[in-house]
Amino acid sequence: MDTVIQIAKDSFWVGANDRETDLFEAVWPLPQGVSYNAYLIADKKTALIDTVKNCYFERYLEKIHDRLPQGKGIDYLVINHMEPDHSGSINLLRQVYPEMTVVGNKKTIHFLEKFYGITENTLIKDEGDELSLGSHTLSFSLIPMVHWPETMVTYDKSSGVLYTGDAFGGFGALEGSIFAEELDIPYIQTEILRYFSNIVGKYSPMVQRALKKLQGLNIATIAPSHGPVWRKNPTQIIDLYDRWSRYEAEEGIVLIYGSMYGNTLKLKEEIDRGIVARKFSTIRTHDISRSHPSYILTDVWRYKGIIIGAPTYNTGLFPPMDYLLRLLENKKLKNRVLGIFGSYAWSGGAVKRLRGFADNMSWHTVEPVVEVQGNPSPDELHKGYKLGRNVTDAIKNA
Ligand SMILES: Cc1cc2nc3c(=O)[nH]c(=O)nc-3n(C[C@H](O)[C@H](O)[C@H](O)COP(=O)(O)O)c2cc1C
Ligand SMILES: [Fe+2]
Ligand SMILES: [Fe+2]
Repeated sequence: MDTVIQIAKDSFWVGANDRETDLFEAVWPLPQGVSYNAYLIADKKTALIDTVKNCYFERYLEKIHDRLPQGKGIDYLVINHMEPDHSGSINLLRQVYPEMTVVGNKKTIHFLEKFYGITENTLIKDEGDELSLGSHTLSFSLIPMVHWPETMVTYDKSSGVLYTGDAFGGFGALEGSIFAEELDIPYIQTEILRYFSNIVGKYSPMVQRALKKLQGLNIATIAPSHGPVWRKNPTQIIDLYDRWSRYEAEEGIVLIYGSMYGNTLKLKEEIDRGIVARKFSTIRTHDISRSHPSYILTDVWRYKGIIIGAPTYNTGLFPPMDYLLRLLENKKLKNRVLGIFGSYAWSGGAVKRLRGFADNMSWHTVEPVVEVQGNPSPDELHKGYKLGRNVTDAIKNA
């Protein structure tokens, strides 16, 4: 959607859809684009909540002009989050509205100077502090490390809208509607989980802390800085975030493998047969050389069973797999059931790294660990079959 849309009394979406950027943060693919949501509250005093990535400034400004009553400027710009996909237009906006005061917490104000050289016309707000706009009163709550240290949310006490920044946000441009209840929820939910697992999931303990903090609020609408606005059923997205940040998983197996010449692939195929022999079909397969880690992380965050296998490469693990393991170790995802397998020709190294990964993650590792030299023998293939069967049994009993 690219028109101005009212989300509550005096409150409007003035964001932008980005259908041009290929990689979010220069890492995560955006085949369906992404939205930078910003909001205008046109009260006696006018306030903006966040800006947009700077290349979309013109679209943002057009929308603001469209809704601002004649002769009015912008009194306040509230910055919930300083990542440049939201703060990037601050200096351009200040050129249009030089009288505007930028509102944030102590850490926001520090970043404002370091990122944009801004030291004047700023207003520091702390936990629980308020800002009256006339009939709307904004109240601020700090949710540090969801996913930056300065992150905060802004609650409009009169409309019940909670402006949450990246929290509760998702990838995907807003097509047709900005409201979740008018969209295909299972479809957008995958893009929201992809955003969560790629960007926010590492900070799950802080998400839990934030959710507890927000429990007391009477939330009518959740208005995040990416993805749809939750107006009809805000608890739906709160519940999803709660589940994801407690590392809860669905019954299913993600099989991630790498293979240069087919030896490790033969094991992978026997593992598949072992899983299917248990009449289990929720298997998501990723060839590590072809699936982007963004999508693998999404599946790994969703499902309980994870089976990983790859060959040895220059005494270590096959490099694209090693990259995935590093991402997972960094995200500190918990409570998964793991199966590992690998291949080598002389020194070995792949399975050693996979064992180290299992220790680092403290995941339950299912036997047997299968390691083969070159082409797997019939006995070794049968071990692969048993691994598939045993992981399936383990997730069903988990
Ligand atoms: C570029 C390259 C580097 C390799 N480095 C090692 C190594 O350091 N140590 C080792 O034991 N095997 C090494 N290997 C052998 C493979 O790990 C072994 O052949 C394995 O079975 C290949 O599995 P795949 O057929 O699934 O690709 C290397 C193979 C290639 C192609
Ligand atoms: Fe962010
Ligand atoms: Fe963001």
